[in-house]
Amino acid sequence: AAQAVMKKAIEVAPDAWMPGGQPDPLIAQRDGLIGAPISRVDGALKVQGQARFAAEFPIEGMRYAALVFSTIAKGRITAIDTAAAEAAPGVSLVMTHHNAPKMQPAPLFLTKSKAAGGDDLPIMQDDRVHWNGQPIALVLAQTQEQADHAASLISADYAVEPATTSFAQAKANGTKPGVFQGETLEVAIGDAEAALKAAPHRVDATYTTPRHNHNPIELHAATVVWDGDELFVHDATQGVAHTAWSLAQIFGVDEKQVHVTSPFVGGGFGSKTLWRHQILAAAAARLAKCPVRIMLSREGVYRVVGGRTNTEQRVALGAQADGRFDALIHTGTVAMTAHNNMPEPFILPARCVYAAGSFKLAVEVAEVDMLANTFMRAPGESVGTFGLESAIDELAASMGMDPIELRLRNEPDKDPTTGTPFSSRHLVQAYRDGAERFGWHRRVATPGSRREGEWLVGMGCATATYPYYRMPGGAARISLSSSGYVTVDIAAHEMGMGTATAHTQITAQRLGLPMSLIRFRYGDSSFPGLVLAGGSQQTASIGKSVMMACEALKAELLETVDKQSPLAGLKPEDVEARDGALFKRDEPSRSETYATLLARAGRDEVVAEASAPPPLETQHWSMHSFGAMFCEVRVNAVTGEPRVSRFLGSFDCGRIINAKLAASQFRGGIVMGLGLALTEETEFDERNGRIMNPNLSDYHVPVQMDVPDIDVIWTDIADPHAPMGAHGVGEIGITGVGAAVANAVFNACGKRVRDLPIRLDQLM
Ligand code: MOS
Repeated sequence: AAQAVMKKAIEVAPDAWMPGGQPDPLIAQRDGLIGAPISRVDGALKVQGQARFAAEFPIEGMRYAALVFSTIAKGRITAIDTAAAEAAPGVSLVMTHHNAPKMQPAPLFLTKSKAAGGDDLPIMQDDRVHWNGQPIALVLAQTQEQADHAASLISADYAVEPATTSFAQAKANGTKPGVFQGETLEVAIGDAEAALKAAPHRVDATYTTPRHNHNPIELHAATVVWDGDELFVHDATQGVAHTAWSLAQIFGVDEKQVHVTSPFVGGGFGSKTLWRHQILAAAAARLAKCPVRIMLSREGVYRVVGGRTNTEQRVALGAQADGRFDALIHTGTVAMTAHNNMPEPFILPARCVYAAGSFKLAVEVAEVDMLANTFMRAPGESVGTFGLESAIDELAASMGMDPIELRLRNEPDKDPTTGTPFSSRHLVQAYRDGAERFGWHRRVATPGSRREGEWLVGMGCATATYPYYRMPGGAARISLSSSGYVTVDIAAHEMGMGTATAHTQITAQRLGLPMSLIRFRYGDSSFPGLVLAGGSQQTASIGKSVMMACEALKAELLETVDKQSPLAGLKPEDVEARDGALFKRDEPSRSETYATLLARAGRDEVVAEASAPPPLETQHWSMHSFGAMFCEVRVNAVTGEPRVSRFLGSFDCGRIINAKLAASQFRGGIVMGLGLALTEETEFDERNGRIMNPNLSDYHVPVQMDVPDIDVIWTDIADPHAPMGAHGVGEIGITGVGAAVANAVFNACGKRVRDLPIRLDQLM
């Protein structure tokens, strides 16, 4: 019965999730849906509490899960005492490596197209401990409180083994080249070290960034039900199809037997992939033969879900008197665990942003025994731009040149490290527009020149950049019904960025229908498409798939027409869709409405499914989002307190699909960038690798009082080589922020901070 309830909840849910768009009717009537500032179609559901998240599916007979975490970094469990927990009120199962069912390791992210695992270590299969915080037991009880209490009664003895839990020790053990997406993170063009030595102007400095933890508002959670060998998971995930396939591998069942749904996700940022909690919950549900809900505590997220690793970066620039770079060196080391695939690729910005006579770029990896690090908003670019864009500012200051001018003098005419032409790059315009709007001309070059009472005021800027991606596997199904509604099904995700809204717009535009007739359904692994809400590419993937499916639908409709139809004999490329009808191009008198087409064919519904072609555009073009970030900061001359007082992001991200959603993405990225610049740092006890601040009172994310008015503008110049002319907007906002703040701090008070986060003790 419980399984039936869960299945029912999932089966009926898609219609309930997305009742069709209800946009401003005036906007909906206009042709120009693309770019309009349309509000979220799911906004009402969200504010009314109707949007159901992963932990919000109560099921008859369901048990609540709690985890117990190891307290050593490496070694073996020699004894684990579960007797008190088993006897505690409400407890129905205590699972440890002694009784956990057989599971294969999770397929590691990027090793296979559908792999979703943050690591590929054994999951509760043996007595080994690999990191401080690894789950060593799971308790099921009738309530969350009973489960938490019972978990607190479990104790373990360990045989501790030496572990590498400090970055210094890891580096001393030796490093190896970083490999990202199958490619060694290394570029060597010319002799950069010699060119640096010979250059009349030089900067050569080391920058560090700490480990960061993921803190989406919605805690990682899943509701899990088995029905025989069929597994139903209501998850908070950025990859429903990836998670379904990966769980099938882990439990040795067919991919078709795993159903993952995830209509709403309360923030992901790279963290909502497959970690231990969903897997252990599914294992416990199988063992206890009951539905299971698991929701990590905030501490649990710090113990179980990886974050961004720390980096140490050397940036060295050699320049001619006119500012042109002879040498661009960006090298350094990141910490990473074994069984991991994410060496924070901080050299990605340096590969494409500036022209230079020679390049030396490399990421080295030092191995630590900690929780696997993973993707976090703009992995690589967010911290890589801190080093690179700080160094540019240092060079500009030492040369007495305006830092924007120095950047413009090194603007490349093609991709500087691959030689590929840019598909669309208007960074210079973004700088010009941004500088004018921000009032950059009021900046005084000499640090410490502007003082208002106790406050020293400064301005800084930095370049933002993030690649355009479109992952293979996009597909969509569109059905047009005689009721007038169109339904689009894609295994995609909504984690707060406005997916359903943007693609309701795009479908309405492509089919010539009002948004209110489009239902965009997503968040279900049984829908078509292998789509990741990651790499800022979901919109490109979905958009291309929707375009293909719309064309397939037109073709299907034209197949049905008989000789009497005004559209008889036409091919899809001969017709265009508008006003709920198909028209012959250049001969609008030949047209027929969808309703008539369906009626004539005697059909209640026409369905078309199509796949997106492979992303060949990225082989022919160097494709990136760009931005120019401007920051005004106030540093208290007495206390050293830094306060960001103004921020402007001026973006070049191709065509903007929805002005309201894009502005929110940009602002959200910038807010996260302010955290990276000023507050965020995961603190470790270096003796044992224990995270010491696993909560939001000790790990500081920016709060309302830390965030000034954030102005965002964009060029809105379509990229002719990208679907819809659009580049991604999800991750670029965080990039460049760290350097823009640090550069403004230098301009305010003359202190150059090269180690994030920038804190008042560094400025006193
Ligand atoms: Mo993003 S770090 O690709 O979710």
